[in-house]
Order: sequence, then structure tokens, then C-alpha cells
Amino acid sequence: MRKTIIVSNRLPVKISETDGEFILHTSEGGLATGLGAVYREGNNIWVGWPGQEIIDLKDQEKVTKELRKTNLMPVFLTQEEINNFYEGFSNETLWPVFHYMAVYAHYEQVNWDAYYQVNQKFRDIILKVAEPGDIIWIHDYQLLLLPGMIRAALPEISIGFFQHIPFPSYELFRLIPWRAEILEGMLGADLMGFHTFDDTRHFLNAASRILPVNTSANVVSFNDRAIVVETFPMGIDYDKFVALGSDPMVLQQIKNLKENFQEDRLILSIDRLDYSKGILQRLQAFELLLQLHPEYIGKVVLYMIVVPSRDTVPQYKELRDEIDKQVGNINARFRTLAWHPIQYFYRSFPVETLSALYNFADICLVTPMRDGMNLVSKEYVASRNNNDGVLILSEMAGASKELIDAIIVNPNNIGAITRAIVDALDMPLAEQQRRMKQMRQLVSKFNIHHWVKLFMTRLQEVNEMQQNMLAR
Ligand code: F6P
Repeated sequence: MRKTIIVSNRLPVKISETDGEFILHTSEGGLATGLGAVYREGNNIWVGWPGQEIIDLKDQEKVTKELRKTNLMPVFLTQEEINNFYEGFSNETLWPVFHYMAVYAHYEQVNWDAYYQVNQKFRDIILKVAEPGDIIWIHDYQLLLLPGMIRAALPEISIGFFQHIPFPSYELFRLIPWRAEILEGMLGADLMGFHTFDDTRHFLNAASRILPVNTSANVVSFNDRAIVVETFPMGIDYDKFVALGSDPMVLQQIKNLKENFQEDRLILSIDRLDYSKGILQRLQAFELLLQLHPEYIGKVVLYMIVVPSRDTVPQYKELRDEIDKQVGNINARFRTLAWHPIQYFYRSFPVETLSALYNFADICLVTPMRDGMNLVSKEYVASRNNNDGVLILSEMAGASKELIDAIIVNPNNIGAITRAIVDALDMPLAEQQRRMKQMRQLVSKFNIHHWVKLFMTRLQEVNEMQQNMLAR
């Protein structure tokens, strides 16, 4: 029977080891939810890294057996591969360049070699299970070479590729020494998807300028094949966030927040630790607010959650120190005996706590320097069951193309962010509701299930189109 193979760098579960025992933690992430219905069905499979180095072969076998019970197939990475493929090429070359922060990028041959080899490792595992007629859907920037590698081994197989981070303009992309190999790898897919029209356009432009290919509208002709490149803005599990709003645990936490903050207005900020998220600029804008508008002192709180991430990469460690310093300075400068301007947490929280915060916060401040989509903005909107609250959103986030009823800001313009906070604090309820209702309609309709269905249907259409072309 024809099966679907999902491939991503990480599996939708994470493994941790305590006293020789391996424990599986299921991911709450949007992709895991959206693709859950796909990979759990029949003999479908999800291939990826379980997020932990497991050296002993017996342990690897044990973990593989356990994961196979739920249609998951692990790709084990050595510490050296984690250093050079994951931290190195993926997160110190591709990540900064694709997020327009090329000054942070390193171009190391050893990291490229590891990237190539790990993509091959994924290919070898996929080839053990893939059969002609299967559908393979590959996700994200850690696996850009994989579509081409699989295509070389299985020329007829159906391959979809989706990139979850931005695709930069040609001028940035061309900085990467291995740019042609990367594009050739990606063009092994039949259908390629990006979050925004701009990312799609940048990819098409880079392909036509770097490779000897023909592009016509959104179709690239390469190696006698037609590859379709399209825009699929990713959604979230809207119903889940709506339902969480009446979960007794969430209601209790909202009650606690009300007791704690009483009349205070709450501005919410939630990100993974990342320099692309604009956390330092956001702090500057909040500091400017307190400086220019002392009337808010004692009345407005910035509730800031930074979720630990990639903290073995040097720039992330430095950013963390800088955030600690800046939060300390602002709190020391403006705090009163009874009030702290910033409540800062460097840890992750269960989804119930996030839901309570989304429900309680008057404003959600999402100001990345660059972001493929940004799902926090959509989660805030989905959680506002009363249709109130204000979203302030960076124009550099993919979500800003859809959530046009947010207050849209340039994240480099500190003064504009400060003014947006003032506008949000002053916004009449009717205006909040008008905007929020529009955004909720959109987030509800274009949810994660819609996104998965749209991509899979389109992949099938593209395959049929290719077959018709061959038959002609
Ligand atoms: O946004 C891209 C992405 O790879 C997501 O898929 C993932 O949730 C996030 O970045 C964190 O990535 P990781 O912890 O795997 O480096």
C-alpha cells in the first residue's frame, strides 16, 4: 500500500535518559499536531533525530523498537554530527544567512561536509523503507540536500519539500559557497513550499540566477523535470487554543494572574532564545515607554518568556547574557517597592500556562527581526475568545502578510514600537474587537489541518501534471 514518509530534522518526540532508561516526551509543536493525523495512519512513517546522542548500539536498537510502535523512525546523530551539522552548518551558516544576519555566519568546509554526510544518513534510512509510489514530505533547512539525494536513487518517487524559515534574497543567498549544491538539492522535490510569496519569489530568483535552469512563472525546469514552487502559509491548531480557554487548569491560572496583577496591564512576549527574534530591541522599546510615559510606571508589566534554545551556539549564549543584563538594568532603573516592570522567565512552560497568559494579556508584542511565519502571534489570536486584546506584529514576520489587522511595526524602529504600545494601551474595546474578529476568522480557517491538506493535495496534482507531460 502507498505510504507517506514525513522527514524532519527532529522527530515529534524527544528522548531523555535517566539511569539508563529512555523516556519519550511528545512534542506540543504545531507541525507535530498537524502531521500527527498523517504519520500515525496505516504504515506511514516519520523519520528524524530523537534529539539526544545515543552511542550504544543496543540502546539504539531498544529506542528504535520503541519508536517504531508509533510509526517513528530515528536517525541517530553522533556528538560530532550534532556539532558540525546541527550547530555548525544548519545554525551557524544557513540560519543567520536565511534570517538576513549574514554577519553571524561562518562558512566552514568541515561543517558543510558534515551537512552533506548527515543528509546522506537520512537518505540511507529513508531508502530502507521507501518504495516506488510512496510520498515523501521533507521539512526545513537542515535537509536541503535530501530531495536531490532521494531523487537520484528513486527517480519516480513523489517528493514534497517545505521550508519553515525565510528564503533570503539572492544577494544574501549567493554568499554561501555551496549555493549551487543547495539549490540542486532542493530541486530534487516535485513541489516546494514557502510561507510567503516573497520567500517563493526569492527562491525562484536565486535558482534562475545561479543554476542553468528555466523558470516560467512558478515552475522551474531542471534535469528534464518540472518543479512547482508555491506559497503555503502555515497555520496553527486553532480549535486546541480555543478549547484551552475553558480548561479548568487554564481558568485557575487566569484567576491567579488576575489576583497577582490586579489593575496592571500586561504585555506578553514569548520567544525561543534567538537573535532573529528582536528581543533586545523589544526591551529597548519598553524602556523608552517607561522613560517617555512615566504615567505607566506601576501600571504596565512586560511579561517576557524566553524559551532556552541552541545555547551551545556562541551567539545564543551571548544573547542570553545580554538579555539578563538589559532586564536587570530596566528593572533596577524603574522598579518600585511594589512593582517590577519586567517579569522575565528563561524556561519553557506547559501549554496550559501559555494559554492562560494569552488569555490574560492585554497586548502580545511580537517583533522579530525576521521570522518565517511566527506561530506565537497566531496562538495569541486564537486564544482571544472574547475577541479583545491587541497584537503588535513585526512586518518582518511571515504572519504579518496575513494578520493585517495587527498593529504592524518595523522592528528596527524602536520609537515606532513604543508608539505602537501606547496605541495598543489606548485602543478602544470596539476597535480591538473589530481587528481581533478579522484575525480570528483567518486563523480559524487557514489552520494547520487546512495547511497539511492543501500541501498534500497540491503535491498529488503536481505529480499528475508531471505524468501527463511525460505521456504527451
Ligand atoms: O523555525 C524553524 C525551527 O527549526 C522549527 O522547526 C523549530 O521548532 C525551531 O526552529 C527550533 O529548532 P531546533 O531546536 O531544532 O534548533
